[in-house]
Amino acid sequence: MFIERREENLHPESGLLLLTMMGIFSKFTILLLILLSCTSFTSTEAYDPLDPNGNITIKWDIMSWTPDGYVAVVKIYNFQQYRHIQTPGWSLGWTWAKKEIIWDMVGGQATEQGDCSRFKGTIPHCCKKSPTIVDLLPGAPYNMQIANCCKGGVLSSWTQDPANAVGSFQLSVGAAGTSNKTVRMPKNFTLKAPGPGYTCGVAKVVKPSKFFTADKRRVTQALMTWNVSCTYSQFLAQKTPTCCVSLSSFYSDTIVPCQTCSCGCQSNMAQSGSCVEANSPNLASVVSGSGKNNSTPLVQCTSHMCPIRFHWHIKLNYKEYWRVKLTVTNFNYKMNYSDWNLVVQHPNFNNLTQIFSFYYKSLNPYGRINDTAMLWGLKFYNDLLMQAGPLGNVQSELLFQKDATFTFEKGWAFPRRVYFNGDSCVMPLPDAYPRLPNAGSRRRISSLTLIMTFLSAFMFMLAYS
Ligand SMILES: *[C@@H]1O[C@H](CO)[C@@H](O)[C@H](O)[C@H]1NC(C)=O
Ligand SMILES: *[C@@H]1O[C@H](CO)[C@@H](O)[C@H](O)[C@H]1NC(C)=O
Ligand SMILES: *[C@@H]1O[C@H](CO)[C@@H](O)[C@H](O)[C@H]1NC(C)=O
Ligand SMILES: *[C@@H]1O[C@H](CO)[C@@H](O)[C@H](O)[C@H]1NC(C)=O
Ligand SMILES: *[C@@H]1O[C@H](CO)[C@@H](O)[C@H](O)[C@H]1NC(C)=O
Ligand SMILES: *[C@@H]1O[C@H](CO)[C@@H](O)[C@H](O)[C@H]1NC(C)=O
Ligand SMILES: *[C@@H]1O[C@H](CO)[C@@H](O)[C@H](O)[C@H]1NC(C)=O
Repeated sequence: MFIERREENLHPESGLLLLTMMGIFSKFTILLLILLSCTSFTSTEAYDPLDPNGNITIKWDIMSWTPDGYVAVVKIYNFQQYRHIQTPGWSLGWTWAKKEIIWDMVGGQATEQGDCSRFKGTIPHCCKKSPTIVDLLPGAPYNMQIANCCKGGVLSSWTQDPANAVGSFQLSVGAAGTSNKTVRMPKNFTLKAPGPGYTCGVAKVVKPSKFFTADKRRVTQALMTWNVSCTYSQFLAQKTPTCCVSLSSFYSDTIVPCQTCSCGCQSNMAQSGSCVEANSPNLASVVSGSGKNNSTPLVQCTSHMCPIRFHWHIKLNYKEYWRVKLTVTNFNYKMNYSDWNLVVQHPNFNNLTQIFSFYYKSLNPYGRINDTAMLWGLKFYNDLLMQAGPLGNVQSELLFQKDATFTFEKGWAFPRRVYFNGDSCVMPLPDAYPRLPNAGSRRRISSLTLIMTFLSAFMFMLAYS
């Protein structure tokens, strides 16, 4: 079932509905707020409220004209704050405007040569009308490399490592225009990273790029430059969730587990053999037998079936401070997550005092509210989240100074939303949150609970349909 919706027309209606309900059921106010914030995860537009300017920009610099075309250097900049491109990497496609061919490439390659039968003598690298280019793998021969190439298509997020957020290749184009009047920009750029999710705009001629010599004493410039910008939408990516959130607190014995079937249901998947019992005696052979190249996860059998679980434990309460322990657990036997990252939203990040064993950066897209944190691992220490098993987790502790609105009531002390590697994590249902000991453990099955359940199910469907 598909429900197509747009951010701007969802908010007024559902916001109004929720506000009305809040007035009536003040007990659930905070829970509704959580729901409301969850709903802004996805939209048909490629717009991310936590990274409103996030995009991947492709810059195409013509460096020289040749007798029948030109030589260009193409650079791919991942300007997204927290979304990176992991293995098996990006692939970039376009459609030539005329009958162009690619004579030769450095630092990248076309996946298919296509029909070059009309050529005698030198055979082009690619004759396809719509070529698809991929990066070379690390360790490519030196004469095939250029700066920023050969990373197997992996690009870091801009926040984590801007130097590695850029990819590049060079191509020599034939049967093309040979001046800035006759050359035509390719059309229909597509970027897969590696699946769907990105939409690219049209190429635009921009001011020619300038290049400084190493000693910064001379500037050269491209003969002509055009830019294409691509943005991500979780809706287009149509991914099933890959991550879920569980919660616990020192003041309650209850551990709130991930929602059952957050990422899939065991009963359906166990039959097809796509989950493995943790204590299975033939674990090693199942894992190695499932093929390393195929990127579908092979997860441990759990009720949530997610490759990744994020756990938020309220550990200690001091007079002016409180302390949280975070654990990210990998249930995927087929993936070591390199350069993983988290985005966590909680109002008290405004007054984060100390963080242990993770890097922290405040994502502050609107410059006012400092409630969204990006967290990632320390280089060579825990930047690699190992495959499922005894080493498959990373942990950190956060120390917050209590802000004016601090309370343990109504789930305030739990995160509002969590992303792992740019994908939103499924939160527990609000009425499952740990309660304060005195907050009435009797659970009334009222029409209210029913409405809440219905609402959250609906939101969930919207978010992941
Ligand atoms: C792409 O991101 C860069 C860096 O954040 C920004 O300067 C540029 O305006 C963005 N482009 C678009 C089309 O949003
Ligand atoms: C083409 O080059 C000429 C001069 O060489 C310049 O005046 C003109 O603006 C250029 N046109 C484009 C589209 O870059
Ligand atoms: C661009 O892609 C769209 C949809 O895939 C297609 O309808 C259109 O013909 C393409 N344009 C060119 C110039 O190939
Ligand atoms: C084109 O892209 C480059 C690299 O991302 C950027 O520095 C430049 O500002 C862009 N130009 C325009 C007009 O967007
Ligand atoms: C993860 O890394 C470990 C240690 O480097 C390696 O033994 C293991 O094969 C890797 N697993 C995968 C799925 O790549
Ligand atoms: C956000 O909070 C962090 C940690 O307390 C602080 O370092 C940073 O300056 C704050 N940023 C803004 C814009 O308030
Ligand atoms: C929390 O942070 C905000 C903004 O940085 C600051 O104005 C406020 O005084 C801080 N509160 C406490 C209790 O430190």
